[in-house]
Order: sequence, then C-alpha cells, then structure tokens
Amino acid sequence: MKMSVTKFDRLARVFHWVSAVVILWATFSGLFLAAVKVEREWQVLISGFNVSLTTVFIPIFFGRVVHALRKKKPSYQGSLNALQAKCAHCVHVSMYLLIMLIIVSGVLMMRHEFQVFGIVNIAPLLKDVWLCELFSQIHHYASYILAVLIIVHISAVVWHHYTGKPILKRML
Ligand code: HEM
Ligand code: HEM
Repeated sequence: MKMSVTKFDRLARVFHWVSAVVILWATFSGLFLAAVKVEREWQVLISGFNVSLTTVFIPIFFGRVVHALRKKKPSYQGSLNALQAKCAHCVHVSMYLLIMLIIVSGVLMMRHEFQVFGIVNIAPLLKDVWLCELFSQIHHYASYILAVLIIVHISAVVWHHYTGKPILKRML
C-alpha cells in the first residue's frame, strides 16, 4: 500500500523553492568569486547582481519566516524517528538564523551607497570602517557555515529519498 504524505502548504512550498534558488546561487557564486580569480568585469557584474538579488529577497525571506512561525509544520507520520525529526528541526532553525545573520551583516557591511537593479539607491547604514569590516567578516564566515548546512540538508533529503522515506514529497 502507498504511504500518503502530508505536505507543507502551497505558500510554504513556493517560499522554500524561491529561497532555495536565491540562496544556492548567492552562496555558491559568492564563495566561488571569493576563491577563484575571475575577470574584473565578471566580478563586478556578478557581485552587483548578487547584492541586488539578495536585497530584493529580504522581504520575501521575512514573509517566509512569518509564515513558518504562524503555520504548524506537517507531521512526519512515522517516516522519521524522534531523533531524526529533532536533528532536522535543529538544521532548519540553524539555517533560518544563519540566513538572518547573513542578511543583516550583508546590509551593515556596505561602506558605500549601492543600487538595487539600477532602480533604488541605498545609502550605507554605518560610517565606521572598523564595524563594516567586522560585519564583512561575519558575512564571510556565516556563509561558509550556511554552505555546510545546505550540503547536510540536501544530502539528508537525498538519503531519506533513497531509503524509502518520502521526505522530498512534503516539499513538492
Ligand atoms: C541570502 C542572503 C545572502 C547570501 C546567501 C550571501 C552570500 C554571500 C557570499 C557567500 C559571499 C562571499 C563571501 C566571502 O567569501 O567573502 C558574499 C559576499 C558579499 N555579499 Fe552577500 N549574501 C547575502 C546577502 C547579502 C546582502 C543583503 C548584501 C548587501 C546588501 C550582501 C553583500 C555582499 C557583498 C558586498 C559581498 C562582497 C563580495 C561581493 O561583492 O560579491 N550580501 N555574500
Ligand atoms: C535542491 C535543494 C533542496 C532540496 C531538495 C530541499 C528539500 C527540502 C525538503 C524536502 C524539506 C522538508 C523537510 C522536512 O519536512 O523535514 C525542506 C525544508 C527546508 N529547507 Fe530545503 N531543500 C533544498 C534547498 C534548500 C536551501 C538552499 C535552503 C536554504 C538554506 C533550504 C532551507 C530549508 C528550510 C529552512 C526548511 C524547513 C522548512 C520549515 O520547516 O519551515 N532548503 N527542504
């Protein structure tokens, strides 16, 4: 007999996949730019695009957090044991907190005025160079930790999928 799956509601699923695309891109393209020497024009283009994209993402992420806090998560119906459910919960909460930290530090590390897709100009919030540098370091290390958690998260979903636990279907 086929096991029926309780899914996240439609809005939660849309929020998840929009966030997944933005965060996967921003994290791995950002880490790539920091690790590999690319031509100056590409560096400027990608990093300008990333700053615009992640700024537009801020209200979307805020909406996602509010929605996650208001709605109860669908039950695992025995597909995960209590320990696995606790681990999944810890990883999810850590990802939410890290994304918040990365967004806040990203905005606060900006030393100069920046543009959002050439439409809106945003002035720097902090003047102190030392503080901006501190937030830049926080942004850097928090995005490393997030990258590790994303890999753990995706590996867990794939592992559950191939061991017959339909966790992925909860988000489809
Ligand atoms: C979802 C949110 C975000 C993610 C996942 C993210 C991720 C990253 C990553 C991985 C890096 C490279 C870190 C390094 O190795 O130094 C980076 C750099 C940077 N981020 Fe973010 N970021 C986010 C939001 C923001 C926001 C909101 C801003 C500012 C408005 C911002 C501004 C920057 C800047 C200026 C850099 C320096 C390098 C560059 O210009 O590309 N980020 N970000
Ligand atoms: C291909 C990539 C991804 C896949 C296949 C995937 C899959 C899933 C699945 C199946 C769930 C439900 C898990 C459960 O019910 O326990 C989930 C939840 C979650 N995912 Fe992903 N995910 C992906 C990428 C990401 C990324 C990049 C992030 C952001 C860092 C992310 C953040 C989350 C969070 C925070 C939850 C918990 C949702 C909640 O309970 O409010 N996911 N994901």
